[in-house]
Amino acid sequence: MKPFMKAVAAVALATACTALEVNTTLDSSIKNAASQIAKGLYAYHNPSATTGQFDQPKPWYWWLSGSGWNGLLDYTILTNDTKYTSDLMAALADNLGPNFDFVPPAQANWEANDDQVYWVYNALTAMEQKFPTLPCQASPNGNTSTTVTNSSRCANDWEAISMHAFEDFATRWALDATTCNGGLKWQYTPANNGWTYKNAVTNGGFFQTAARLARHTRNATYAAWAERVWDWSAGVGLVDAGFRVRDGAGDADGANCSQVNPAQYSYNAAAYLHGAAHLYAYYHQTSNSNNSSSSQGVWESRVRGLLDAAKQDFFTGDGVMYELCERDTSCTTDQTSFKASLARWMASTAVLVPSTREDIAALLRTSARGAALGCGEGRGGNATCGMQWTTGGFDGQADFGTQVSALAVVLALMALKAPAPGVVW
Ligand SMILES: *[C@@H]1O[C@H](CO)[C@@H](O)[C@H](O)[C@H]1NC(C)=O
Ligand SMILES: *[C@@H]1O[C@H](CO)[C@@H](O)[C@H](O)[C@H]1NC(C)=O
Ligand SMILES: *[C@@H]1O[C@H](CO)[C@@H](O)[C@H](O)[C@H]1NC(C)=O
Ligand SMILES: *[C@@H]1O[C@H](CO)[C@@H](O)[C@H](O)[C@H]1NC(C)=O
Ligand SMILES: *[C@@H]1O[C@H](CO)[C@@H](O)[C@H](O)[C@H]1NC(C)=O
Ligand SMILES: *[C@@H]1O[C@H](CO)[C@@H](O)[C@H](O)[C@H]1NC(C)=O
Repeated sequence: MKPFMKAVAAVALATACTALEVNTTLDSSIKNAASQIAKGLYAYHNPSATTGQFDQPKPWYWWLSGSGWNGLLDYTILTNDTKYTSDLMAALADNLGPNFDFVPPAQANWEANDDQVYWVYNALTAMEQKFPTLPCQASPNGNTSTTVTNSSRCANDWEAISMHAFEDFATRWALDATTCNGGLKWQYTPANNGWTYKNAVTNGGFFQTAARLARHTRNATYAAWAERVWDWSAGVGLVDAGFRVRDGAGDADGANCSQVNPAQYSYNAAAYLHGAAHLYAYYHQTSNSNNSSSSQGVWESRVRGLLDAAKQDFFTGDGVMYELCERDTSCTTDQTSFKASLARWMASTAVLVPSTREDIAALLRTSARGAALGCGEGRGGNATCGMQWTTGGFDGQADFGTQVSALAVVLALMALKAPAPGVVW
């Protein structure tokens, strides 16, 4: 019941307030809405709680703070408003851990692969957008022998951080290979609940990390890994024949991933969509090499398949995004944030894969309008946003996750207009 109690407090703030209107064709209106929602999000920041964390019930929601910072990172990049930059940098530095891979001692023993990757997405975005780096450190943990470290670069630049995390996932993949013919387990610590589950948020996260590194570095090793994770995911049925992304499969007691849990969540679909978009762009960029134009076609059709499935499953007929749990208002603390991933990564997909742009832009515009109407313009310019974007008003359920989601979908309108860094079409 904890999340519910939190929601009640937020409702009290919002009910007295008028809805946030956003004119989706007017940059100043979008920016104003994003600014108010970001302020409402930032109101959850508690500098006295565990370093770099937003106020969340502990310990399960560390990953959500990672997604929240990704929202504020996108906000900073897209609006040029730097008021959150110093706290953002401090949070990323504090959670980086001694090996510069987002495995901090404070999260030891319960951090899972998916928790880690939601912080790593910050490094990937910062890398792609050439965001200022953290103060340079020569080597992780004073260790000069790691593969990505050499004398001419910082071991904690965004690319190095992303590579360290990639190496973690690749190493764990090898350790996990005795069941299901591959696939990452949800947990990387055997004692944890989830050690016997190979799931989409984890493998989609590894897939996306490899694909984004491939496009950014043009190093074929990453592309080969992304292809491998995709092939495994499709082979086991986490990505099914209709491009629907299923939640996971168990590997306990010889189950060998033969029983797929068919549950669908928007962030799982989004993780694979965004990775596929990056692979499409990677093959586009390297189109002078053998096979890459056919690979480009293969990945474009996968992007299309994933997008069409997401459109059917996570959008109303009017084109407003929703999570399946909204049907019976059962969305939990984690689930209220999932639409942030779908909005964030659909916008990036539209920029990376031009043939999807028009469809995605239309869906994000209707969704952003609905999300803004679900926010109350709070005191001090802090907008508080609800869960459902389909009601034309505030639905009474507000928490950190609903705020992250609303920020992402409004920012998506700005992201659609920004050029993809490093891509020349
Ligand atoms: C949105 O902004 C555009 C451009 O200024 C304007 O033409 C249009 O009337 C506005 N729409 C609404 C509903 O206010
Ligand atoms: C608005 O949010 C800021 C942080 O972004 C916080 O300091 C302030 O107290 C909030 N104001 C109200 C009235 O909640
Ligand atoms: C942010 O700054 C960049 C570089 O000066 C500029 O190209 C861009 O238009 C600005 N974006 C906004 C939303 O002001
Ligand atoms: C240094 O890094 C290498 C390669 O990742 C690792 O094998 C070794 O254990 C590390 N040494 C220390 C002291 O952390
Ligand atoms: C386990 O599942 C993998 C992936 O579907 C398959 O390749 C392998 O043959 C299976 N092994 C056994 C022993 O069933
Ligand atoms: C490509 O990336 C892999 C994995 O990080 C690395 O081992 C390899 O040295 C890289 N190749 C080049 C040419 O940079």
